[in-house]
Amino acid sequence: MTSNDASTEIAALRAEIEQHNHRYYVLDDPSVPDAEYDRQMRRLRELEAAHPELVTPDSPSQRVGGEAIAAFGEVRHAVPMLSLENCFDGDELADFDRRVRSRLHGVNEVDYSAEPKLDGLAVSLRYEHGLLVRGATRGDGATGEDITHNARTIPSIPLKLRGGGWPEVIEVRGEVVMPKAGFERMNAALRERGEKTFVNPRNAAAGSLRQLDPRMTAQRPLAMYCYAVGEVVGGELPDRHSEVLKQLAGWGFKLSPEVRVVRGAQGCADFHADIGRRRADLPMDIDGVVFKVDSRAQQAELGFVARAPRWAIAYKFPAQEELTTVEAVEFQVGRTGAITPVARLKPVFVGGVTVSNATLHNMDEVERKDVHVGDTVIVRRAGDVIPEIVRVLPERRPAGAPAVVLPPVCPVCGSAVVRPAGEAVARCSGGLFCAAQRKEAIKHFASRRAMDIEGLGDKLVDQLVEQGLVHDPADLYALTVEQLAGLERMGEKSAENLVDALEASKQTTLARFLFALGVMGIGETLAQTLADHFRDVTPLLSVRSDDLVGGQGVTGIGPKSAEAIAAYIAEHPDALPDDMALDAATLLGLAIPQLTASRADALAAHFPTWGALRGVSAADLVGGGTRVAGIGAVLAEQIVGFFAQVHNREIIQRLRDAGVRWESPVLRGDGDGDAQPLAGLTLVLTGTLEGIGRNEAKDALQALGAKVAGSVSRNTSFVIAGAEAGSKLGKAEKLGVPVLDQAGLETLLRGEIPAG
Ligand code: IVH
Repeated sequence: MTSNDASTEIAALRAEIEQHNHRYYVLDDPSVPDAEYDRQMRRLRELEAAHPELVTPDSPSQRVGGEAIAAFGEVRHAVPMLSLENCFDGDELADFDRRVRSRLHGVNEVDYSAEPKLDGLAVSLRYEHGLLVRGATRGDGATGEDITHNARTIPSIPLKLRGGGWPEVIEVRGEVVMPKAGFERMNAALRERGEKTFVNPRNAAAGSLRQLDPRMTAQRPLAMYCYAVGEVVGGELPDRHSEVLKQLAGWGFKLSPEVRVVRGAQGCADFHADIGRRRADLPMDIDGVVFKVDSRAQQAELGFVARAPRWAIAYKFPAQEELTTVEAVEFQVGRTGAITPVARLKPVFVGGVTVSNATLHNMDEVERKDVHVGDTVIVRRAGDVIPEIVRVLPERRPAGAPAVVLPPVCPVCGSAVVRPAGEAVARCSGGLFCAAQRKEAIKHFASRRAMDIEGLGDKLVDQLVEQGLVHDPADLYALTVEQLAGLERMGEKSAENLVDALEASKQTTLARFLFALGVMGIGETLAQTLADHFRDVTPLLSVRSDDLVGGQGVTGIGPKSAEAIAAYIAEHPDALPDDMALDAATLLGLAIPQLTASRADALAAHFPTWGALRGVSAADLVGGGTRVAGIGAVLAEQIVGFFAQVHNREIIQRLRDAGVRWESPVLRGDGDGDAQPLAGLTLVLTGTLEGIGRNEAKDALQALGAKVAGSVSRNTSFVIAGAEAGSKLGKAEKLGVPVLDQAGLETLLRGEIPAG
């Protein structure tokens, strides 16, 4: 490279590094990850070393940091606050140790003080006669900012030294950090108040220290860990750095509990490996470890180069944040049909592995982070956590970079993608037909509470789908003994049993059949409601939204129940974790007043998580556009959408052709009082029943016309309590609902109503 070429590249690097320094040191608003900055600085030093005639005193390589900002007083450091040489692998570390030993004239082995490299802000504290007189940031190493007022608010900084024997003047240096837990808490609070959050704990610590108002700083969870001394007047310190640290601890300073003395390059390498393994579990961020020659006499002998001591080195960990670009955003279909945007990245080495994908979770996240294809992004991978996109660098967006849009159809099966208004998660409506959802759909179809196909377990379903024997539930009924006997862990006998079980499952109820289809939002209770209402699957094939929403005898949420449910939610905002996915059973488990099973189904279908439900008012639950009737508009759309899909209709037809059938509605007593002697009763089952499973009892009671609900309310006619009945029994007693025992259940099963 000619001197001319080098000069051009050096000028560009200097301009960029200056810009980063300004953002990082002056504005506390870093523009690039550290790793990128380190690389540019290394490159600049490399070029300057090759062309010493181009080095100027104002090059960023010639100074340690940025400038002090005007609003704070300036503090000149009596002893400059130096920087550390970096190394990145075991060879560079061994080189350092070799250099140290050779300068010490062939010392065999050197003791090092081994310390975590805390990722915070370097601070110097000046004590005169044992009293804190000044706190200062490092600034550019020679001059820092006076932050005495803020230092005083940090609880781990002693205002007065403990014990005695301290020098007349001593400067104690260390790192002010924000522990990870405190950082998360503080960001959550900022988010709650709608304020801007911090990108990482180091940035938060820096922003907190550089407040003009110390009351602000006092509220921030900061800590100071000491690792060095600066000026010392009128006193002596121990001979070893490790002893100095112990002395500081004795005077009341906080030390990192990880500090050790290790021997030789091997001891350093072991320490680095050990801390590296535990990095993610440490209470604060660290970006490497620091090794310092422990003997102060040896330190003096080694001396300094321009900006760093020869007796210390920082062995950095692989960066946890890196820059890369988004090459594409693809959409994956999960087992439940949830559609997840995934960013395909230009491969980048971060957190010790090469990362080429990062999940974007859902469209809300894409929109919040404003990700475009072609964007330069910060990728983070900490510990074993899955890689994530921290944020995009909008200033680097190429012109015309396309925004990410949700595809209208499922990339796997081509069915329509639905994303109900206000919801984060988009889903494929393909259900049974979608290959991505196939295994789960078939497992659900076969499950005990659906078609109850005995012997068709999860492992078997996996095999059947993987071998291409079954694509949808209707294929199950075409399986032969020969095909099945050929599968792993399947004998002739079990194959025959399974074919028999398949045959037996064909005789079912309409409610079980509807539940088995796995329509989003149709739980068992809603399936029963639909079965009671429509009596056959045929009317559902041409159902319109209007037929389903409100009216029509489908249980909904009226103003009164909405009030009760909303009141419960307001009083118990933390009943469930915010990100917990909702299903009817979970909601019923909360024993929310007025929450019947069908309302629970409807709520769960409408609100994907507790967090979504937590913010609602009674008005949101009833009436208006966001109404949740027993079947609200959203749920109705899902149901209509499912039955409108050609492939779903085909599967239903094939199931019926295969012989799947339910009792004719006429037999279940259309206008025939005797066939439904329990009509009008609402029952709740609890505890373990003798000789009959709870589901079996439920089916039998429903066949006799009773409604079986999941929770007790004033409208419950009877609670049937078996052995070890739980809270429902207590609730019944509280509300004065009559309770039946086993004998009472048998009376009901004969079609007679016991005396309450
Ligand atoms: S010693 C003369 N020890 O790293 C040596 N520094 O790159 C002065 N740091 O400005 C520094 N943990 O902000 C030292 N245990 C440790 C450290 C540490 C973090 C930071 C400090 C310093 C920077 C040097």
